[in-house]
Amino acid sequence: MNHAYKEPLIVQEVAPRDGLQIEKQWVETGDKIALIDGLSACGFTRIEAGSFVSPKAIPALRDGDAVFNAIRREAGVIYVALVPNVKGAERALAARADELNLVMSASQTHNRANMRMSCESSLAGFGDVVRLVEGAASKVSLNATVATAFGCPFEGRIDEDRVVSIVRSYREMGIAGITLADTTGMANPRQVARLVTRVLADVPAADLTLHFHNTRGLGLANVLAAYDAGARRFDAALGGLGGCPFAPGASGNICTEDLVNMCEEMGIPTGIDLQKLIALSRTLPALVGHEVSGQVAKAGRNCDLHPVPEYVRAI
Ligand code: COA
Ligand code: ZN
Repeated sequence: MNHAYKEPLIVQEVAPRDGLQIEKQWVETGDKIALIDGLSACGFTRIEAGSFVSPKAIPALRDGDAVFNAIRREAGVIYVALVPNVKGAERALAARADELNLVMSASQTHNRANMRMSCESSLAGFGDVVRLVEGAASKVSLNATVATAFGCPFEGRIDEDRVVSIVRSYREMGIAGITLADTTGMANPRQVARLVTRVLADVPAADLTLHFHNTRGLGLANVLAAYDAGARRFDAALGGLGGCPFAPGASGNICTEDLVNMCEEMGIPTGIDLQKLIALSRTLPALVGHEVSGQVAKAGRNCDLHPVPEYVRAI
């Protein structure tokens, strides 16, 4: 028995952002708000509720301002906004986001595809965002993501030293929260254990989030490898929605209810109500117009037993 399995695993729900950003069917503002309010009732402490990026880049989330202004703010829940630049940060502050999540890729090519700028320009912009937040009237926390940290769909392998040094630059700029993102599901468990161990030498576990996509079926294996290496915070999306529209071949985040189910079965506390989560996940196909990849919402929990058929009773 691994006693570390008693330590809570913190799930940040990202379906309203990563999940919806790639959907072709427009999701009405009211439906986005209802989804976030539904998630707020499931026990999450962190929800990435939208992004403040160019509406031309991500039309699906162009109503971020209206969404953030209307969601029910559940006590104890941090509502995070993804921002790419100062303009996004100004919009997010005006919409009362609790935390800003800045994103830059370890891969220059993916950063140019996604953010239309070099990594150096992204970092310079982050400096401006840090100064903006430091001068803000209310307290807002900062997180920065290293996208394509485990591999890039254009460049392939990403040098681990480069990821470690980007993390150090973020922290030196005064950004406390760090996310390592596997944008197109290229990570494997051994690689994850190695990189998480290295990054945890510089960053406390309470500040480090792992963001996995299940593109090649390794999502939950990577979660366990990261957890065993000491990581405690993970992004996941309801139904397994998600993906970066500027990363060829991208597909869904690890599925929140599948992750919570695994944790429950293993005795790892998450504080999340799995039954409510499954009920909410079952509303997704109607919302996005297609089946979703999550498995537990289809199969039910282990404890959701079936009636014994008549022919079996007779034997
Ligand atoms: N929010 C709203 N509008 C924004 C904006 C933001 N955060 N940042 C820029 N814009 C607007 C500008 O005002 C300008 O508008 P105009 O054409 O009406 O004058 C237009 O977008 C272009 O601005 P520019 O600074 O030249 O941006 P760009 O075209 O070089 O694109 C980004 C740079 C970063 C804004 C864009 O690539 C982007 O939003 N990327 C995010 C992609 C994403 O969310 N990916 C998935 C999550 S990782
Ligand atoms: Zn993602």
